Amino acid sequence: MVDKLFSSDDCYDLTNKEVRELYKKYVNPSLEQLFGAFAAGREDVDHSEGVWIYTKNNEKILDVTGGIGVLSHGHNHPRILETRINFQKKKKMEVHKTIFSPYLAALSHNIAQLLPKDLDYSFFCNSGAEAVEGSMKLAYKYHDGKRKVILHSDISFHGKLLGSASITASKEVYFRYPEIPNTDSFEYDNIDSVKQKINEHRNESGESNVYALIIEPFQTLTLRQCHTNFLQELQKICNENGIILIFDEIYVGWYKTGTMFNFMGHNVLPDILTTSKSLGGGKASISAYVARAPILKKAYGNTRDALLHTSTYNGLGEECITAIEAINIMQEENYEKKSFHIEKIVKERCHQLLEKYSNEVKECRGSGALHGIFFNTDNLVISKILKLVPLSITKDPKFVPKLAAAAISDWMYKNYKILVIFSNTDEVALFFKPSLIIEEKEIHYFFDSLEKTLQEGLWQIVLKFASKQFSNFVNFGSL
Ligand SMILES: Cc1ncc(COP(=O)(O)O)c(C=O)c1O
Repeated sequence: MVDKLFSSDDCYDLTNKEVRELYKKYVNPSLEQLFGAFAAGREDVDHSEGVWIYTKNNEKILDVTGGIGVLSHGHNHPRILETRINFQKKKKMEVHKTIFSPYLAALSHNIAQLLPKDLDYSFFCNSGAEAVEGSMKLAYKYHDGKRKVILHSDISFHGKLLGSASITASKEVYFRYPEIPNTDSFEYDNIDSVKQKINEHRNESGESNVYALIIEPFQTLTLRQCHTNFLQELQKICNENGIILIFDEIYVGWYKTGTMFNFMGHNVLPDILTTSKSLGGGKASISAYVARAPILKKAYGNTRDALLHTSTYNGLGEECITAIEAINIMQEENYEKKSFHIEKIVKERCHQLLEKYSNEVKECRGSGALHGIFFNTDNLVISKILKLVPLSITKDPKFVPKLAAAAISDWMYKNYKILVIFSNTDEVALFFKPSLIIEEKEIHYFFDSLEKTLQEGLWQIVLKFASKQFSNFVNFGSL
């Protein structure tokens, strides 16, 4: 017997419980378990606007996640909604292949106007990993397949498809799938390490065998910034060796660290730039690589090769028109200023946090609207107890810091109605990566709430959270 199919209207009325049952049966039962452990995962959301999520219980939640990079404009920005509704009302043509798209053309034009020098040619796709892989292919084709090696950094996240995962060194991608051949890594922000790797990949006559080098000038997961002199040296060495320099700014692009793109604050120029996330204004799933004119022309600038790299959903109309509006909003509403202003307040509050809570808070790191707060968890008494829990996750050496960040995030959701996420990698931090439209009073609300949370005692909060998650294994009442 087949269940009745849901209508689109039915979706609006599904309760959190029903949705979780559907996840268990039809998406992945472990996802239900993972996110269902948090108060946020048990929420019935009604709608969202700006930095706020509204629940079906008429509560509002402050969202400081920035939608993992997607929501610089906040949820459902009115101009983005209007643009999409207009496009639909006018029944504009969405899909194109052999008819030229005015939207794709205009978006490419606009991006070229905003980027420096001859970063002129855009290719649009739908995810960051696709943009990265497109850029890798472009670099490889530029060298006509004659060079074989791609270099990446030892701290990097470029995506989870086979090619992009092959050049990703983040622990988040811990299971190794088949990899593209001839990848090698250098130490992040270390020019000697880059030089050494380039020298290791030369043929007998001394010519480089490296077709591309990819790096995130600002590494989002670890919140590390490459030094200006490293980036400038890097460009010089890549130019000297004919290596295509790819900057992956999928996450940080469009003002998240202050300047429009992070590299623009360092007087350097990549050969290819990747971008996505807030380019879609929180509504369109759009990503792109943007190439310098000579690179694109040499690789694909002839009628035989022009279709070598394509994709079904390349630059659909509504995605492009949304991106055009998203960019114009960021220009007209001075998102650069907003980003630097957020940085100023966050740095002040972090400074106070470090002074007041030096036992609990180890470090604050970040710039613009991307920040991490790192906690001292080494001396938590609970560490010893949790070692007794017979689950494989507790064997993770970072289990306690992860648990602490998870506990704080859950506490802040339950007590202060703030949605905040934490990193799940080597260095565990609570992330403050809000939409760029966040207001000063909302930033202060976050930090006031974090301070109140820490006043409760880190140990108490972790204990409460752990006892809920692991009471089947350890008697927390005896603590
Ligand atoms: C720097 C960077 N590159 C690539 C990606 C992959 O993007 P996607 O998840 O859309 O494939 C991400 C995703 O967060 C990213 O931060």
